[in-house]
Amino acid sequence: MSKRVRKVVFPVAGLGTRFLPATKASPKEMLPVVDKPLIQYAVEEAIEAGAEVMVFVTGRNKYAISNHFDTAYELESELEERGKDKLLAMVRDVVPSHVSCVFIRQSMPLGLGHAVLCAEPIVGDEPFAVILADDLIDDGGSGCLSQMVKAFADTGSSILGVERVAQEETDKYGIVDTEGDQQLLEVKGIVEKPKPEDAPSNLAVVGRYILTSEIFGQLAQTGRGAGGEIQLTDGIARLMEKQKVFAYQFKGKRYDCGSKLGYLMATVDYALQHPELKDDFQAWLKSRFC
Ligand code: UTP
Repeated sequence: MSKRVRKVVFPVAGLGTRFLPATKASPKEMLPVVDKPLIQYAVEEAIEAGAEVMVFVTGRNKYAISNHFDTAYELESELEERGKDKLLAMVRDVVPSHVSCVFIRQSMPLGLGHAVLCAEPIVGDEPFAVILADDLIDDGGSGCLSQMVKAFADTGSSILGVERVAQEETDKYGIVDTEGDQQLLEVKGIVEKPKPEDAPSNLAVVGRYILTSEIFGQLAQTGRGAGGEIQLTDGIARLMEKQKVFAYQFKGKRYDCGSKLGYLMATVDYALQHPELKDDFQAWLKSRFC
């Protein structure tokens, strides 16, 4: 089996109910953090990790994402005419030329596991990554997916990106059962959204996965689980009966941009790092709170 991760799946077909009405006509992955949509941060992380094929599993509001990664002829010629070279480069560089984007439709939002299964015809028989763009990870330059790709090259086994969460929050995540506290841990069990008192640990799976292609066969046989959805966690639990699965405690700070609070925290922290904004924004914050 190849240990190269060439393809990354971006499930972007969720309803995004926590952000309505903003997500009524546009997917939540198009919400900008300062000046870039969440999905672009995710694609940049995938490219940095060496991936070349971006597979978007889209839903009813599919056009905004495909338009974002497509050539924008009118906009580009307008910027060219006005001599706005910096902006033109920014618009053109959204995806480098060696990277291709593929769009596939999830006809009904039946859950994350179902969304990943929809990517099977494009991914085929090779290991692949999954990035949930609403989990924005500020890795300080070491690329969360890059870190996991290295761990995959060493193990050849599926790897789940995990972080410790408050015990009372286990019912929002897939939680893994492991022993020890090393960076790379073998997973003995995994359960979707357990109550704090039933959770096997407080190590939560966040939106980064590297999976072997055997996951597809398992997802195809996975019925509806928590919330009536086909859960990726349940497919992974089945996969673990056949193969080893590891959890990887990545370096970096995660923002849950699927929630309003996490999204606002990301916006503030990214604005405080933005080269053109940080000084004025910090001064404004100080004047507001000091
Ligand atoms: P969430 O659990 O955050 O659900 O999905 P959601 O519908 O996007 O948002 P809320 O909870 O209603 O506000 C986690 C990820 O899985 C994708 C979402 O787009 C998101 O990236 N997803 C979820 C799908 O692609 N299809 C689905 O059927 C469900």
